[in-house]
Amino acid sequence: MNEVRIAPSILSADFARLGEEVQRVEAAGADMLHVDVMDGHYVPNLTIGPPVVAALRKVTRLPLDVHLMMTNPDAFLKAFRDAGADLISVHVEVVPHLHRTLDTIRALGARPGVVLNPGTSLALLDEILPCADFVLVMTVNPGFGGQRFLETGLSKIARLRRLIEDRALPTVIEVDGGIDLQTIRAVVEHGARWIVAGSAVFGAPDPGLAVKQLRAAALGAGHTAPAGVTTGSTVRPPTRL
Ligand code: DX5
Ligand code: ZN
Repeated sequence: MNEVRIAPSILSADFARLGEEVQRVEAAGADMLHVDVMDGHYVPNLTIGPPVVAALRKVTRLPLDVHLMMTNPDAFLKAFRDAGADLISVHVEVVPHLHRTLDTIRALGARPGVVLNPGTSLALLDEILPCADFVLVMTVNPGFGGQRFLETGLSKIARLRRLIEDRALPTVIEVDGGIDLQTIRAVVEHGARWIVAGSAVFGAPDPGLAVKQLRAAALGAGHTAPAGVTTGSTVRPPTRL
């Protein structure tokens, strides 16, 4: 639970060479593969569905972390699980019966997670937190790769970590959006453990090397904080996650 996991997002990969791209990051030590599902309705972009997850399942042993950015995820949970999803996260903003949805994901044999957009309050987690294995904090507005990291996410991650610690829960904090060599250390210091990176991996000349560099930066090697990003002493060091 405690370790940092690097989860490249295939959204920024070359879809014509997807298997090859995935095998490159797997060989370089990526820990999970993040799969962004967008329905053109909940978010203004359209991506992939269960057949692509099934195709990925055949070419990698990495856990598939499926992030559902869709208005009606309940209708597709089984299809994604059958296709090979290991972790499935849904947005708290769109799911009417969140408890039932997370129960269903777990009953299907996958690990359930909830996602919060940058404009969504942590207060929405109050009842549901014990039911989720992980909380995905968006640090961009969902829909596109390559957007700029929203620094307000740092305090949100730190506050979420305190909520989790205060309730002695094993919940893991995942972060998604604008993570690169400049921002990764700060999100880890504030409490994130599973780190999604799309353009910083597949937009790099050598995606495998990018995974290694991101891990090194996450663990504190060669970190330089960008202006305005606080990294440090006011926040308790990660303990339980
Ligand atoms: C955005 C997606 C992200 C995206 C991240 O809606 O949820 O997973 O791939 O891309 P980067 O890392 O480029 O911000
Ligand atoms: Zn995502």
